[in-house]
Amino acid sequence: MRLYPLIRPLAFALDAERAHRLTIRALKLMPPHRPPDFPGSLKTVVAGIEFPTPVGLAAGFDKDAEVPEQMLTLGFGFVEVGTLTPRPQVGNAKPRLFRLSKDRAVINRMGFNNAGQPSAYSRLIQCTHMHGLIGVNVGANKDSTDRIADYVAGVKAMAPVARYLTINISSPNTPGLRQLQDEGALRALLSAVAEARPKKGPPVFLKVAPDLGEGEPDQIVRAALQHGIDAIIVANTTVARPLLRSKRRDEAGGLSGEPLKPLALKALREFRAASGGEMPLIGVGGIATADDAWERIRAGAGLVQLYTAMVYDGPGIAARIARGLAHRLERSGFASIAEAVGTG
Ligand SMILES: Cc1cc2nc3c(=O)[nH]c(=O)nc-3n(C[C@H](O)[C@H](O)[C@H](O)COP(=O)(O)O)c2cc1C
Repeated sequence: MRLYPLIRPLAFALDAERAHRLTIRALKLMPPHRPPDFPGSLKTVVAGIEFPTPVGLAAGFDKDAEVPEQMLTLGFGFVEVGTLTPRPQVGNAKPRLFRLSKDRAVINRMGFNNAGQPSAYSRLIQCTHMHGLIGVNVGANKDSTDRIADYVAGVKAMAPVARYLTINISSPNTPGLRQLQDEGALRALLSAVAEARPKKGPPVFLKVAPDLGEGEPDQIVRAALQHGIDAIIVANTTVARPLLRSKRRDEAGGLSGEPLKPLALKALREFRAASGGEMPLIGVGGIATADDAWERIRAGAGLVQLYTAMVYDGPGIAARIARGLAHRLERSGFASIAEAVGTG
């Protein structure tokens, strides 16, 4: 029986951030158990690591790495914790997280609220890593005078506890952060990261915005390939405001969920065209069903992630999408996810 439809009205009666905190507290109490069994056809290797399923939890839900193993046991094939900054920071003033229920969307302007990398490190080092992969997403402190140095520090500090690292330069809620996507700044950042990452350390992914201009995906792919980035995550939340019906549609911040879907898919197609399949891609933004995930894989994503759809449909969504993908593989005659990537 699906429990979430019963719990959702209670959660939605609360302020969104309070509901999120309570959810994390409840998850912490969850007794450890085995994750669901998935068909072997869903196993997939991206950037040299094997993922049990291609359906992951996107960054931002478990910023402080409080419940990554619980999320794995609920059926996510991998979990990305963070964004974590070197020093703790409180983030923006509340309220800063808004549900747009009529649009199945969320607007957030959290601003990298997190307890800092050392505290997450102390929890991650105790994880068993038995049930799937935990990736660590790193960012820069808002008041940092040298943002590149913050990324370098994050890569060095978190590499020992991360199965992969993500360089997040695409949050719209830290003023100026997205400028690191501009060609000169990006090259400086990526070359510093390439120098800092440990030789036998985890792969490093780059997370980009869906709001890029003409030619930018090309520039980013070229810089990423040259500096040994292992995959690109497309995409973060959008600052665009497609037609929305909910009351909170004019709140400032990044928009995620259903209205982001066409933008994120378009951005993914642009990155696929720019990379010609040379750079692994991870599709994120508005994925809520197995059809959405399948469309993203056919468009060039080797893995997918989601966050907002879980707010509306509950944590069982990851296992449902994974099983749906296995059926689609079977129906279409592909033996593996990797075979289907970029065929649409
Ligand atoms: C409340 C909230 C907080 C987020 N925080 C982060 C973050 O700290 N770092 C990051 O890289 N992405 C963050 N994201 C973006 C998600 O990881 C994802 O890229 C985006 O929400 C699109 O996916 P979705 O439509 O499935 O939610 C956040 C998203 C939401 C809704």
